[in-house]
Amino acid sequence: MNYERFQNQACLARTPTPLRQMALMMIKRPNVISMGGGLPDPSAIPFIDATVKLRDGSELHIDPADMALSMQYSHSEGYPALRQWFKELQKRIHNPPGMANPTHPSGTEVIVINGSQDALFKTFNAMVSRGDNILIENPAYPVPCTILTPLGCNLIPVEADADGMNPENLRRALSRWSPEDAKDPNSDIPKLLYCVPTGGNPTGSGLTLQRKQEIYKLAQEYDLMIIEDDPYYYLQFTEPLTPSFLSLDVDGRVMRFDTLSKIISPGVRVGFLTGPQPLLQKITYEIMYSTIHVSGISQMLVLALLKKWGHDKFLAQAKEISNLYLKKSELCNMYLEKHLTDLAEWSKPSGGMFFWIKIPSITDTKELLENTYHRDALFVGGSAFFADRSAPCQYIRASYSLVTPEQMDKAFAALAESLKEILSKKT
Ligand SMILES: Cc1ncc(COP(=O)(O)O)c(C=O)c1O
Repeated sequence: MNYERFQNQACLARTPTPLRQMALMMIKRPNVISMGGGLPDPSAIPFIDATVKLRDGSELHIDPADMALSMQYSHSEGYPALRQWFKELQKRIHNPPGMANPTHPSGTEVIVINGSQDALFKTFNAMVSRGDNILIENPAYPVPCTILTPLGCNLIPVEADADGMNPENLRRALSRWSPEDAKDPNSDIPKLLYCVPTGGNPTGSGLTLQRKQEIYKLAQEYDLMIIEDDPYYYLQFTEPLTPSFLSLDVDGRVMRFDTLSKIISPGVRVGFLTGPQPLLQKITYEIMYSTIHVSGISQMLVLALLKKWGHDKFLAQAKEISNLYLKKSELCNMYLEKHLTDLAEWSKPSGGMFFWIKIPSITDTKELLENTYHRDALFVGGSAFFADRSAPCQYIRASYSLVTPEQMDKAFAALAESLKEILSKKT
């Protein structure tokens, strides 16, 4: 793979910052007398140690040595022990070909990131140039569009259905080009494909293994990099978990974004990015220039928890959370049936936190959602998730993660009342 093809001019020119390199020299050899770095005197730092209570009644203790470490500048790729924990998890769950074979040219690696969103922002800023064509599932999580549009690129929507992005639609979208165009640096052939393969946000749908295999084949044919944004991977409602794009990645053409936001906490801002080493190195430079690294105390807290749990307990915990959302999705379905049978259409999500609901009797849900808001219930209008946000849209997204059964009942009652009111005015 030619990874330069996937970097924009600014990214190609990026080098590590000299001061960060010096900080690394200090970290690597802590006994060296350092008069080189800008680290504060530890005695000037007010925090000494910490004990954190867990929901299961046990405690995590961060001792003074770990606390001191977490309070200083550190590796931009993340704490080595935390990276290693995530890397071993990736090997166990996805066994990426680029990691299983140590001589694989992609050298698949893992870095700790400040949540998926920050890493997506950095990745797009490193890879996208003005005028680029980017393939994106439609409907899609809206943040990538929000990042990509001001970068001056052209988004090519690839329609998704109840099983996620349809490979036939992808083939059709690519048919304007020939695979040979990928060898021409002046061609405008797309280089990136963005998708949320599991418990899709907003649709709640998931790509089947067969679809992933077909999409990966097309990515090989047209030399695409797959941006696999998969925060809901562990929130699949059926087992075994569908294999990821990363697990199929024989070439090193997948950048996979995992996050702890949905299974531990969004506030810790810890995720992990897995992909080809040459690209991860450039993302690390961007981290060096901006956030420097993920908050030390967040990394230390997460590391203490993950070391206590080990991979088995982490996976058991993820399963418990997935069961929690499965139950909530079933309740949500029940209240949808109670209030919106014959008024709306939806399918049950295969994972994640969302129902994607179509209201066929109206052309646009904007007025409906405004009326429902006045009845004290909030949903997101579907137009936010489509490539063309100005077009009328019959969909809404309902999230069941935060609400109680009583609140679901009231919210869908409010939605139904608002809809009936609008329909009665029409007749
Ligand atoms: C599809 C998708 N990607 C990324 C994110 C952001 O995740 P993080 O909290 O790790 O930044 C979300 C959050 O809801 C999401 O739904």
